[in-house]
Formats: sequence, C-alpha cells, structure tokens
Amino acid sequence: MLKILPDPSSIAEYVSAILVAKIQAKPDVVLGLATGGTMEPIYAQFVAEARQSKLNVSRLTSFNLDEYVGLSADHPKSYSAYMQEHLFRFLEFDASRLHLPDGLAHDLAAHCKIYANKLLACGGIDLQLLGVGGNGHIGFNEPGTAFDCPCHVVELAEQTRIDNSRFFAKGKTVPVSAITMGMAEIMQAREILLVATGESKAQIVADWYQQDVTEAIPFTVLKRHPRARIILDEAAASLLPDDALQQRMVANG
Ligand code: F6R
Repeated sequence: MLKILPDPSSIAEYVSAILVAKIQAKPDVVLGLATGGTMEPIYAQFVAEARQSKLNVSRLTSFNLDEYVGLSADHPKSYSAYMQEHLFRFLEFDASRLHLPDGLAHDLAAHCKIYANKLLACGGIDLQLLGVGGNGHIGFNEPGTAFDCPCHVVELAEQTRIDNSRFFAKGKTVPVSAITMGMAEIMQAREILLVATGESKAQIVADWYQQDVTEAIPFTVLKRHPRARIILDEAAASLLPDDALQQRMVANG
C-alpha cells in the first residue's frame, strides 16, 4: 500500500500511532528498527506519545538493521549511540532486549550468524521500520544484493558513504563497511513500514514505482511483501506518475 502524507511531521504522527497501537496490543512485540535522518522525527513523536499514554515498553524486543564495522557501541557516530540519543534513553526499555550488531566483533561472519539466529530465536520481526537510501538500499543491502541474502558484512556503496558523510564531522570519513540484516530477514518480517521523505528520495521512489522487482533497486523487493506500506511525504512523492497519485487517493481514503 502507498500512503502519501503532507510532510515528515504528519508521517511521524502516523507511524508513531501505529507503533503505540502495536505495543499496546502485543507488549512483547518484536520490532525491527532503523536509524538515519528519516527516523529522527518518528522516534521523537513516539517518545512523546509513549510518555503521554504511559506506554509500557519494558517487554518489547528490538533488533536494529545495521551497524558500521569498526565503530564501538559508544562511538558517537555508531548506530548504537544514535539509538540511545533518539530513543532508548527516553523510555524504560529493558536493555537486555535491545539488539544491535556489534561493529567491533572479532569474527564478523560468525557474528552475523549469531545475530540472525538470535532474531529467529525471538520469533522473527513483527513490525519492521525501514528508510531507503538514495540508491534504493534497505538496511545496508546495496544494489545487487541477492534477495535471499541473510545478515552479512557489506562494503558500503560510494553513494551511501557520500550521503551519510553529513552525519560525520568534516574531515572524518564514513566507515567503508557495515553489518546489515539481510534481505532475507527483512522480507520475513510480518509487517513492514518503509518511510521516505524529502526531495532527495523522489527519484528512487519514482524508479521503485515504475520498475519491476529487481536486485538493482533493493527497495523494489517490497512489492512482493504482502504487508508492506510505503509511506511518503509530498516531496518524496513529487516525481511519481499520475496513476500512483490516484492510488494515493484510494490509499488515503
Ligand atoms: C539505517 C538504514 C538505512 C537508512 C537509509 C536512509 O539504519 O538501514 O537504510 O534507512 O540510508 O537514511 P536517511 O534516513 O538518513 O536518509
């Protein structure tokens, strides 16, 4: 389903309401979490709503999509630090239920297997949040990744490193590789919410809409998922053709 909302703050309200309802209905829900600029307003809104409704988050489990190789959990630019900064520190989560890959794991391949197995042991993901890269990556599954690929170490695409350099101080380089949950784990999630906001995502969103499912645009695999919602703001939807916008009217009721 395609959902187009005016701006990032209306998306934050929409996604946050879904998260709150999900946790109320199933307090031991397993969430798949993303990082990045797209998620920041969503987590801020969720924290506000969770506080207001006195939501109990202590029984939920989370698995983050990815982590940079070579950054420790307390490195300020690690995704672990991002999650603390934008979400975990504000609510009473059970820290033992919050999972991120370890960017300093000694044996990275073994660590990927352990991470994937831990997720399986928890029953898989009930609700997966996703952003999308300017090149169509989901998690850090870069263009060309096989759709059956499990959690793995990936060499980041040049475009991804350029896009993400905005999060790093001048002169600091973006790590060259990362651990990412694979396309396999993402597609096994029972429900997926992919969010894209801003003009910088308009071209990849139009490509996603117009092209068949292809490994060249990892994001297109979501067309095969029975319960994936693609949630866009007007700017990210601005290059969609007219037929997509008609679908928007149906989807938005
Ligand atoms: C982050 C992740 C990435 C981002 C994507 C978009 O955990 O998995 O796929 O969602 O790179 O990033 P932003 O939101 O910064 O444009």
